[in-house]
Amino acid sequence: MTTRTRIAIFASGSGSNFQAIADACRAGELDATPALLVCDRPGAYVVERATAADIPYFAFSPKSYHNKEEFETHIIQELTRYEVDFIVLAGYMRLIGPTLLSAFKGRIVNIHPSLLPAFPGLDAVGQALEYGVKLTGVTIHFVDEGMDTGPIIAQKAIEVGAFDTRETLEKKIHEVEHLFYPKTLQQLFSVKGEAAIR
Ligand code: GAR
Repeated sequence: MTTRTRIAIFASGSGSNFQAIADACRAGELDATPALLVCDRPGAYVVERATAADIPYFAFSPKSYHNKEEFETHIIQELTRYEVDFIVLAGYMRLIGPTLLSAFKGRIVNIHPSLLPAFPGLDAVGQALEYGVKLTGVTIHFVDEGMDTGPIIAQKAIEVGAFDTRETLEKKIHEVEHLFYPKTLQQLFSVKGEAAIR
């Protein structure tokens, strides 16, 4: 019997990775159910994508809570309500705090647009261009309390061409992410499933 992992996808912006993951689930390429979108910017385009895909969402404004512990407690209530097993960060531009980390220990992954540990934090693509590296890429890693510091699961390198601009490099990175994230999640969930059977 195969059990589909129930995932919550966290995003803050356009949500092209959210879309790629939701599409892969629908196409049967990723054995997971996108049970919930969690978004910390209620006006973000990703909320429209969730609505169009008929995926429930929880959109909140961090400013309307006293602190991170309070809004993460609210997030956990929503995750419980939708029976979420695993959290997938996809352009969620906020550090995960101890409240959520301890509730989902070892069950939160992130995608970052660089070959970590190079260029952590904000604007990894701009940082890579500024530095002048010839090779950058994408990293998928488990989330810990640091900024893009958790154990690395998978990486893919991408060449930076002499004429690459921010726009062309971002496009290349997104194209890789949209295939690489669902594929890596599928591998991760199948390993998890085998471990559960044994
Ligand atoms: C993605 O490129 C993702 O790697 C990056 O944000 C973008 C979101 O795009 N994440 C980070 O920089 C995390 N530190 P999307 O909203 O179109 O999926």
